Amino acid sequence: MGQDLKSQTRRTYDTVAASYARMVPDTLYEAPLDLAMIDYFVAQLSTNASILDAGCGAGRMLAHLTALSPSLRLQGVDLSPAMVAQARTTHPGLKIVVGELADLDYPAAEFDGVLAWYSVIHTPPHEIEAVLSELRRVLRPGGVLLAGFQSGTGERSSTRAYGHEVDLRAFLHRVEDVAGAAEALGFRIVARLERAPRESERHPQGFVLAER
Ligand SMILES: C[S@@+](CC[C@H](N)C(=O)[O-])C[C@H]1O[C@@H](n2cnc3c(N)ncnc32)[C@H](O)[C@@H]1O
Repeated sequence: MGQDLKSQTRRTYDTVAASYARMVPDTLYEAPLDLAMIDYFVAQLSTNASILDAGCGAGRMLAHLTALSPSLRLQGVDLSPAMVAQARTTHPGLKIVVGELADLDYPAAEFDGVLAWYSVIHTPPHEIEAVLSELRRVLRPGGVLLAGFQSGTGERSSTRAYGHEVDLRAFLHRVEDVAGAAEALGFRIVARLERAPRESERHPQGFVLAER
């Protein structure tokens, strides 16, 4: 991620962190199909698997994963220190750190699973391979990655989000591009899904589940 884009993304999420945590506290916005992908991701793993929530934001998916399977060993990482602070408040027992998807501070093969839930949406398509490569590095052989994102092509800019003035860019990714990049890196695609937008959404949603 270029430095300007990284700073802009971090600044925006630092600005909105408390509001995001309050306004999006759970998975109420997720469609049943989205949650089914997460269920299936968790079902691929042992009950005490180690999972990295990569781009964990304020930590709502850490809560969701815990609710699904309480013995999972969870960690979180996010670009935004304020989002990390929110996540640490709700999950004081978990290791949640500031970091960048494309340059993670973990040893190779550290995790059984990596969840990248709407965190690659700020990565331009030409950088997605570098992110997937880094997520692959931290997965053990046989480990699984689940990525969720708005699907399509192009970019959108926001000047207002979660009640704040922001300057945020987000990128659409085609499911076949994400799956193709993952395959080229040596992942085996377990499932890929594109679902139609619901009423509140402007874009289809894409999901790729892949095994290292
Ligand atoms: C839309 S939020 C989703 C947060 C969380 N996964 C959820 O579902 O609530 C996107 C998150 O990805 C993080 N993020 C974006 N680009 C990132 C990067 N390159 N490295 C780490 N985190 C990133 C942002 O800071 C933000 O917290």
